[in-house]
Amino acid sequence: MAKVICPGSFDPVTKGHLDIITRASALFDEVVALVVINPQKNPSFTAQERADMLRKATAHIPNVSVDSFHGLLADYVRQSGAIAIIKGLRAMTDFEYEFQMALINKKLVPEAETIFLTTTSENMYLNSSVVKQVASFGGNIADFVPTEVLPDIQLRLCDKI
Ligand code: PNS
Repeated sequence: MAKVICPGSFDPVTKGHLDIITRASALFDEVVALVVINPQKNPSFTAQERADMLRKATAHIPNVSVDSFHGLLADYVRQSGAIAIIKGLRAMTDFEYEFQMALINKKLVPEAETIFLTTTSENMYLNSSVVKQVASFGGNIADFVPTEVLPDIQLRLCDKI
């Protein structure tokens, strides 16, 4: 049974994230979508809220589960016995940071690989920050986030208008 981890801030989950998780679920037996802390970011949703939204968005994919973890991703990967970390790559702007993370994680947990899936062209421009900004000014985010979590995101961010 090949298990992989799709880690991220998921603050909130977008259609870009869901695309990567869905494609990973077609390639591997078991996928864990993992909410982890990115120390460089100040989240709008708690880890619990982000995990709950991920659960709603992935409920239709039988081999995907959701978890959250406070600590080093490499420690979670080792403890879980996963064979790989799956990350989505959008433009070149992602590359340097993701490359650094992949090298550090390889050092910390040599038995696991980092595998990059390229984003689809529709999701090239998409990230959680853009979604939050559009939502906070009352813009339509229906094309950007999974339908199941649209009300949760709008409810939380509409009061920021
Ligand atoms: O969605 P993001 O914010 O690009 O995801 C980045 C994330 C959360 C996967 C990354 O920051 C992470 O792995 N955080 C956990 C702490 C860690 O292991 N850092 C890497 C070694 S410094």
